[in-house]
Amino acid sequence: MISRPSPAECFVYITLPGRVEPVTAARFELTTDRAGAPLGRFVYGKSYLERNDAVPFDPVELKLTSRVHETTMMQGVFGALRDASPDSWGRRVIERHLGQAALSELDYLLHSPDDRAGALSFGLTREPPGPKRRFNQTIALAKLQAIADAIVNDEELPDDPEVTQTGALLLEGTSMGGARPKAVVEDHEGLWIAKFDRSDDKWNHARVEHAMLVLAQACGLTTAQSKVDSVGARDVLLVKRFDRERTDVGYRRARMVSALTLLRAEDSAQLRDRWSYILLVEELRRVSAEPKKDATELFRRMCFNALIFNTDDHPRNQAIIAKGRDWRLSPAYDLMPLPQVSLERRDLAMISGDQGRFANARNLRSQSARFLVSDDEATAIVDAMKDRVKCAWYDTARRAGVSEKDCERIAGAFAYPGFDRPVDGISSDSDEV
Ligand SMILES: Nc1ncnc2c1ncn2[C@@H]1O[C@H](COP(=O)(O)OP(=O)(O)OP(=O)(O)O)[C@@H](O)[C@H]1O
Ligand SMILES: [Mg+2]
Repeated sequence: MISRPSPAECFVYITLPGRVEPVTAARFELTTDRAGAPLGRFVYGKSYLERNDAVPFDPVELKLTSRVHETTMMQGVFGALRDASPDSWGRRVIERHLGQAALSELDYLLHSPDDRAGALSFGLTREPPGPKRRFNQTIALAKLQAIADAIVNDEELPDDPEVTQTGALLLEGTSMGGARPKAVVEDHEGLWIAKFDRSDDKWNHARVEHAMLVLAQACGLTTAQSKVDSVGARDVLLVKRFDRERTDVGYRRARMVSALTLLRAEDSAQLRDRWSYILLVEELRRVSAEPKKDATELFRRMCFNALIFNTDDHPRNQAIIAKGRDWRLSPAYDLMPLPQVSLERRDLAMISGDQGRFANARNLRSQSARFLVSDDEATAIVDAMKDRVKCAWYDTARRAGVSEKDCERIAGAFAYPGFDRPVDGISSDSDEV
C-alpha cells in the first residue's frame, strides 16, 4: 500500500441553474493555522464573479465577494463543501478503494464520484471535467448490493471483472452523505438513491422507511418520492433524488446545503448546542423564498419526528435546496422510527421547544410563533397529526409490506405516552448524548 501526499487545494465547479454543464467557480485551500489547527480558505474566481448568472454556494457563509473566506470550523471545510463530501459510508468505500485509511478532507472530496448531493463538483484542473453521463442502472442493484455487503462485512469484493477492473461500480453513490450503505442508480424516471439493508438491522429498513415517507405525506408533509425494489430475497429502498432533474441533454442540479451549514453548527453530537429547530426556523425564515410555507412545514416535520420518534433528525437530515436562484426547504427524507423503553420522556436530536429536546406536545407548541404558527393552529396541527399517526401507522406499514413481526418491533415508537404529559416537573436535561 503506497501512501500518496494529499493535495492542499482544489478547484470548485458549479452547475448553474438551468444548465447541465459545470463551470469553474472557486478555489479551496486546506491548510493549518499557527496553532496547527485545520484552516480552510475559499475564494470565488474573478471570471465567475463577473458572470451575471453567478450564484453563491450557500445563503449564509460563502457570499459572492472577491474577498478570501476563512474557516476553522468543521476541520476547515466550509459547510457547503462539507455537504458535498461523503460521510462515513462513502469514506469507508473510498479508503477501501485507495487501500489507504485516514485520508485528508480534500482526498475525500476529490475521490468521490460526481453524483454528490447538490450542484458542486471538485477537481485539480482549472477546466471542469464534463458532467457525469453514465450512471448505474437499477438493473445493477444486485451487484451493487453484493459490493455493499462485502464492504460492510470487511470481506473480499465479489469476483467480478467489472468491479475489480474499473472500480467505478464500487464508488457509485459514495459521495452521497449518510452512514447506511447506498448507491446512486438511474432508470427512465431519473436518479434514485438505493439504500441497502444491513445484516444487523433490527427490522426491514427499506419497507419501514418507505412506510414512514408515505405516512408523512398522509400527515401533510412534503417528502421525497420512494419505492421498494426487491433484489432476490432482500428489499432495497429507492428514494428519488430531488436535487436532480432529468432533461434531454443531461441533468440539471439544484444547490443543496444541510441545516448543519445553515446553523453554522459542528457535526458531532458532543457539540450539538446549536442543533435546534428553533434556531433553524429563524435561519429558514431569513433565507427561504417562502418563509411562511417553509416555517410551517418545518413545524410539521418536527411534530412528525416526535410522533414516530425519529431520533435521527440531526441537522444533516434536514436541508434547503435552490433549483433556480431561490432557496426553499427540501422535501423530507431519512425518516425512521425508533422504539425506546422510556414511556415518560424521549428526546429528539434537535431542541424543539422550551423544554429542550423533549418529544412532547406542549414542548413542540411552546415556540410555535417562531414557526409563524399561532397557538390555535399549533394545537390543531399537533392533535390532528397525533390522531393520524396513531390510527394510520400500522395500516400504512402493512400496505408497504412491513411484516407483522416488524410492526410489533416498531410499534412502541408511535405516539408514546410521554408525548401528552404535562411538561412541568420533568427535568429538561435528561437527554442522553
Ligand atoms: N431524495 C434525495 N435527493 C437528494 N439528496 C438526498 C435525498 N435523500 C437524501 N439525500 C442526501 O443524501 C444524504 C444521505 O441520505 P440519507 O440521510 O437518507 O442516508 P442515511 O445513510 O440513512 O443517513 P444517516 O447517516 O443520517 O442515517 C442526505 O444527508 C442528503 O444530503
Ligand atoms: Mg441521513
